[in-house]
Amino acid sequence: MMHALENLEGAAGGTLEPDGAAGVLTGGAPVEPVAPRRGARILDLVGETPLLELVTLSQPYRHKDVAILAKAEFLNPSGSVKDRAAKAMLLDGVGRGLLDIGKAVIDATSGNTGISYAMMGAALGYRVLLYMPANTSPERKRMIRRFGAEVVETDPLLGSDGAFLAVREAVKASPSRYFYPDQYNNPANAQAHFDGTGREVWEQTAGRVTHFVAGMGTSGTFTGTARRLKRENPAVRTLAVQPSSPFHGIEGTKHMASTIRPGIMDESLQDGVIEIETELAYEITRRLALQEGIFAGVSSGANVAAAMKAAEDAPPGSVIVTVLCDSGSRYTSDRFWEVGEPEYGFDWKI
Ligand SMILES: Cc1ncc(COP(=O)(O)O)c(C=O)c1O
Repeated sequence: MMHALENLEGAAGGTLEPDGAAGVLTGGAPVEPVAPRRGARILDLVGETPLLELVTLSQPYRHKDVAILAKAEFLNPSGSVKDRAAKAMLLDGVGRGLLDIGKAVIDATSGNTGISYAMMGAALGYRVLLYMPANTSPERKRMIRRFGAEVVETDPLLGSDGAFLAVREAVKASPSRYFYPDQYNNPANAQAHFDGTGREVWEQTAGRVTHFVAGMGTSGTFTGTARRLKRENPAVRTLAVQPSSPFHGIEGTKHMASTIRPGIMDESLQDGVIEIETELAYEITRRLALQEGIFAGVSSGANVAAAMKAAEDAPPGSVIVTVLCDSGSRYTSDRFWEVGEPEYGFDWKI
């Protein structure tokens, strides 16, 4: 295996030089471009995701020219939005001298950040140890183990807070063994979305975005993106999505009122909160697959449901942007896919 730091140079976004200078003119004769000596690396593929238009689900708002657009974060290399935060936190750790090859990366995760760390650990040569609630979807735990990372399962009744408290105990017991990014309290998490997601949304809508709607786990996606969009245009309305009850099935998101507040959360960025019931999130997740051909996870369904609620009240011409956090392939064993299938036929299609 290559030394982790050597591997990280490419991952930091540095372009790998081709063997020869392509297209340089020598004495008037063009030189044939030379193929790059090496290709891209897996971490180079993080971010710059497409912005998809939800054609069918936004149809009820078309009469007032309201568009609903969604960042296809499931196209990140490990399949979720969390690649952005994980990459930023690991690079930040290396930059600050906190992460070196002798240390294992350790953190609490509801699954997706764990998959990102596990993929990056495999690519860069770091050991990865993850604390996660035992009821996290089996697809996620399996994927983490395939990347060679270790999983410590925590009390499912305590949810993401149980994993968070357990990992803090492990780090306290032997701090020198670990690099602990602490995704709930690490500013590099939100910064990844300020520099990436928020900038991309602004550029991809040519500054026409009027609303940003997203759920919160660590709150990194919402906080960083909202902060960037408000810096670009303070009039952008930024709406946080919340599960309607402490006991919910919107995996990856936290019911903030009943759980530990993430340190990176910034309430001043929330112009409003849209509550979504799990059943509605399930329904919209199914409709994303059946009516848009987008196979996304349940938090994506919650985000799109909230974007549709925002569209109801939005003034004509609004451009509402939300996030498709991960792929439905992480939830194939969930029963909710089966409910309601017969209701949806081709009649729904336009
Ligand atoms: C599926 C899913 N959706 C949404 C989120 C929330 O993202 P953030 O932690 O940036 O708030 C997460 C976070 O783990 C997630 O796994």
